[in-house]
Amino acid sequence: EKGNYRHFMQKEIFEQPVVVAQTLRSYLRRVEQTVALPQIDFDLASINRVTIVACGTSFYAGMVAKYWFEQFARLPVDIDVASEFRYRDPVLEPGGLALFISQSGETADTLAALRHCKAAGQTIAVVVNVPTSSMAREADLLLPTHAGPEIGVASTKAFTCQLAVLAALAAHLAVKRGRLTRAEEAEIVEQLVETPACLNAALAHDEEIAGMAHLIAPARDVLYLGRGPDYPLALEGALKLKEISYIHAEGYASGEMKHGPIALIDEAVPVIVLAPSGPLFEKTVSNMQEVRARGGKVVLISDAEGIAEAGEGCLATIEMPKVHPLIAPLVYAVPVQLLAYHVAVAKGTDVDQPRNLAKSVTVE
Ligand code: F6R
Repeated sequence: EKGNYRHFMQKEIFEQPVVVAQTLRSYLRRVEQTVALPQIDFDLASINRVTIVACGTSFYAGMVAKYWFEQFARLPVDIDVASEFRYRDPVLEPGGLALFISQSGETADTLAALRHCKAAGQTIAVVVNVPTSSMAREADLLLPTHAGPEIGVASTKAFTCQLAVLAALAAHLAVKRGRLTRAEEAEIVEQLVETPACLNAALAHDEEIAGMAHLIAPARDVLYLGRGPDYPLALEGALKLKEISYIHAEGYASGEMKHGPIALIDEAVPVIVLAPSGPLFEKTVSNMQEVRARGGKVVLISDAEGIAEAGEGCLATIEMPKVHPLIAPLVYAVPVQLLAYHVAVAKGTDVDQPRNLAKSVTVE
């Protein structure tokens, strides 16, 4: 039931603090300040490589996880969309962990990829929201998200819950591989415990973002830019916008823009920049200046520090709380979801049932 909300998508966006907390509860031991995964009968320390496979929004959660697994656990990660992975004859060596991410647990290409990896002797881990799904049944390591049923076709709360589980998994792999001290693990647990409050702080910008919808709704094209783990968020922002508002949108790695898409920039193309302050910020700001020098209109999503430094001259700014880099992708998901939602509402599209789309894609 939608309760006081106008659409399921809106309700599901607002459920995120609760369902992310609910999901994290089964992966964190708060008193001991450790990460805890479900019981498994093999040693994760023996994993020498991770292959991540998924589709759509779940694939973007996997892209974020690649940054985390490499940075924290120093594990090599290969990632692909399921429809490509299956047919490219991937090299799968012994000792590999194959990780599948899916809200429904039934997406045909992802399930076929899972079976391919199983036949090739990989250990199979799945992050799924439907515990009775085919993928859940066929996994060696089941990592459930506890997002509750997701009705809106555009995935929102399942995505942030996937990120929460993947962050916990990254920390766990890092501990197993001796890459995190006890203190560092405790710090990560503390940050994850803070996430729901940070999601609430992000949701508090709802009305302000609704007020910006008229700036984006008339556009024919919109560009999203991000760097590092916020690059997949740029891809996710673009996907959300195109699927529910039918505006053409593209996500790009900030630094890659000058290798082509900058040719598109003029006054009519809004550019949404996702850039938490931190070591990558300066570089992204210079990419932003390249956009502005060509008349491009920038919406900057950053924290107070970032906005103080680079907010001047932007079409609009959206201030996120200052958060640990590990949880930034979860928090920055909220404004991109809200922006897509409000633009779609402004355009009068069918937000929960966008044309041509199905909630669960069971054909290949
Ligand atoms: C986008 C969206 C889709 C799904 C994709 C995978 O908002 O919902 O891109 O993410 O079809 O679905 P699952 O996660 O069920 O495998």
